[in-house]
This record gives sequence, C-alpha cells and structure tokens, in this order.
Amino acid sequence: MPRKHIESLLEKEIGLSPESIGPETIAKAVQARMRANGLMETRAYLSLLRRSKAEWDELVEAVVIPETWFFRNRQSFTFLGLWAKRKWLPKHKGNVLRVLSIASSTGEEPYSIAMALLDAGLSEKRFSIVSADISKNAVRKARLGFYGPESFRGNDVSFRERYFDATNDGYQLHLSVLKTVLFLRKNVLSNQFLSEDSPYDIIFCRNLLIYLSPLARQKVMGVIDRLLAKTGIFFVGHAERPLVTALGLQLIKEPRVFAFRRAVDSDVSKAPVRPKPRGKFERRRHRNDKASHAHRTHTIPGSAKRPDPVGNNSYPVTNRRQPSTKKMELLDRARQRADKGDLEEAIRLCGEVLDQDTTHVQAHYLQGLIFLAMANEEDAEKWLGKAVYLDPEHHDALNHLALIAEHRGDGKTSTQLRQRVKRLRRKEGVH
Ligand SMILES: C[S@@+](CC[C@H](N)C(=O)[O-])C[C@H]1O[C@@H](n2cnc3c(N)ncnc32)[C@H](O)[C@@H]1O
Repeated sequence: MPRKHIESLLEKEIGLSPESIGPETIAKAVQARMRANGLMETRAYLSLLRRSKAEWDELVEAVVIPETWFFRNRQSFTFLGLWAKRKWLPKHKGNVLRVLSIASSTGEEPYSIAMALLDAGLSEKRFSIVSADISKNAVRKARLGFYGPESFRGNDVSFRERYFDATNDGYQLHLSVLKTVLFLRKNVLSNQFLSEDSPYDIIFCRNLLIYLSPLARQKVMGVIDRLLAKTGIFFVGHAERPLVTALGLQLIKEPRVFAFRRAVDSDVSKAPVRPKPRGKFERRRHRNDKASHAHRTHTIPGSAKRPDPVGNNSYPVTNRRQPSTKKMELLDRARQRADKGDLEEAIRLCGEVLDQDTTHVQAHYLQGLIFLAMANEEDAEKWLGKAVYLDPEHHDALNHLALIAEHRGDGKTSTQLRQRVKRLRRKEGVH
C-alpha cells in the first residue's frame, strides 16, 4: 500500500514512528502535500517523493513537531548553570565548554542554554553551542533569533528583559547571545552526523526520542555514546528517562532535572548541585521538599496517580514563591465545580490555569472531561488530544480518546489508541 510505504520511508529515513505521532497525522500531512502538488493518487505522490528531494523535504517539514519554548523544564537549565559555575569552571581554567543541542527546533533550547551559562557567570568565550535539526524552516527561524509570545511560557520570563529587544512584532535576541550558537541542518540518523566532531561536555536531546521508532532510538543513543565526553552530561525530555536508563547511563538524582552521566564519572560530584535556600520561605520549602513534591503530584478525578510532567515548567527551583500552588488551587476549584455540575464555571477556572501555563497537562485533561460530561465529544477530543500531545504517556486521556473514536465509528483509531495504552502499561510493568 503506498500509504504504508510512505510511513516506512519516514521511519527509515528520519526515524519517525507512525504509532507515536499517530498514522492519521501522517495521512493528513500526505494529503496536504498531495493537494499542494495537484495529485489525487497516493501512488503518484509516492513516486514523486522518490524522484524529488525537494518534495521529500516538504513532507519532512509537514510531519515534524517543532513545539518548543524558552527554558522548557526550567530545573534542567538551573542545574546546568549551577554545575557549570560550581563544578566545571573551577576545574577548567581557560577551557571552552562544548555543548550540543540535537533536535533544537527553532532555537529556544540552545539559546536557553546560552542564557543559563551567561547567568552562571561564563563569558561568551567560555562556551560554544552547536545545534542540529532536520527541519530547514526551524533552522532558518532559529538563526534569526526573533520570537513571538508563544516562545515565552511559564511565570518567570525575566530573562526576556535582559537578553531581548522588544519590537512591535516580537522579541529580538541580542546579537551577543545569537553569536554563541551555530545552527546546522542535519539528520541525527545520518551516518555522517557530526562524524568529525570531538566529544561534547553537554548534550541536550529532548523531546525527540519519544517520536522515534525503537531502532531509530537505538541509533540516536549510539550517536550520544559517540559524542558525549567521558565526564559529560546528557539531558533528555521528561518522558524520555526510561528510554535512556536502559543504556547504562546514570540518572542525576535532582528533582525535576532529567539528565544523565556515564556510569563512571569524576567531574560531576555525587553531592547534589542545589541552589542554596535564601529566604525563610525557601528554607522551609527545602525542608519540606518531599512534602511539596507529593503535593505537586496531585491528580484529577479519573486520572492515573502520576505526577504532572509539564507543570514543572512554571515551578523554578529558585523561586521564592510557589506559583504552582495557585494553579493547583484553581484546578481543585475547577474539579469541585465540575463535581457539582457547574460545568461552565469549571471551564472558566481551567481557562485561568491555562492562561498562566499554556502547557498544563491536567488542565487540558480536565477540560476534556468536562466537555465529555457536556456530551460534546468534538471539543473533548481536542482537549484530550492536546493533553496527549503534551504527555504522550497519559493513559487516561488515551483511553478516553479511544472511546470517542469508537463512538465516531473509527474502529481503527480506537484500536490503535488502545494498543498504545497496552504497550505503555507493559513498558511500565502494569498489566
Ligand atoms: C518537539 S521538537 C523538540 C525541540 C526541543 N528539543 C525541545 O525539547 O523543546 C522536535 C524536533 O526534532 C526535530 N527532528 C525530528 N526528527 C529529526 C531527525 N531525524 N534529526 C534531527 N532532528 C529531528 C524536529 O524537526 C523538531 O524540531
């Protein structure tokens, strides 16, 4: 079947797993490209794809997911800055810290690394950042360093004042930061990927592995193994930790820091790199760290007992206040209103949470449940779909989506979603 053939090509060439992104997403992208080329037959499009490198590039643009923002998972950047200042700088007088950001999308990630290092006291000359992404549009945008409000999420965007100039249309990154990052358009799965480069002290490869097939993941991990210095640190996305632990790297045990080092390491001390508590409140929070963590893993009705993996973005370790509490309170109120049948008010309260944090998984999920309660499956599907987009391992949202697809008579999607949940459960050892 030509459609399956296109899926296989994408899997082979760029590693994309049709199951993780959803075959329907690929089908939509293919249809859009067929329309753009005035083609009616998938077979004819497949033949065009084989002949034309330019069309192949367009299809890649249509299927990749460029979602990113500055200081995504802030704690990882806080950790990086503190590590660079306290552990790396004192031992590397005159050296340059080498950083690699794979799947850097439109540049928010590597530029956040640069800002974190500058904030930690490293001058621009003391670090170099190489960034690679397969998407030509993403790399083009990254090189410009010009961003709209969607790139600045979470409560703390104070860095924008220090490193950007505001214009009528958006924010321009200062040239001094822009210059610290070299953007390359590269496929991480290509055999030549940075084949001449010496090892890097820091590698970020976040929110790519989750979209890849098992074989492609293995290849990427081979690349990491080749390019990570003996004492290097490897940062992944929140959902990607289980994929890396299997490869013999050691998780760095810091709250909400998703990073690894090689099993034997002399540079990263076993002693944790934590910000020193400053004010009274912070000291209390330090003591109550465990309790506050438990608090953060609050769940909503019908959801699995698992932590909110994305809410962390607006919960910087160094903040004196506890901004996520406000969101939790709002979400609790939304739940209570929903339980009482006041669905309009519940939606309004969810909206307030999302105004503060556009990537709040549980707020999206709750909105989905509320629309289900209103028998509005179309909107429910949108909200639940967004929850799954933000947390691809959200069992409950996936289960509801399967039911909605079933009601719609889309047995194929429903089965695929259920199988996805099954695989997740198997992976987590839950049967
Ligand atoms: C969700 S974004 C991740 C951005 C950033 N790392 C983050 O976590 O915010 C995924 C990126 O992976 C890129 N990508 C997908 N397949 C790739 C490949 N085979 N080689 C290099 N980049 C790839 C996409 O173009 C997209 O920009």
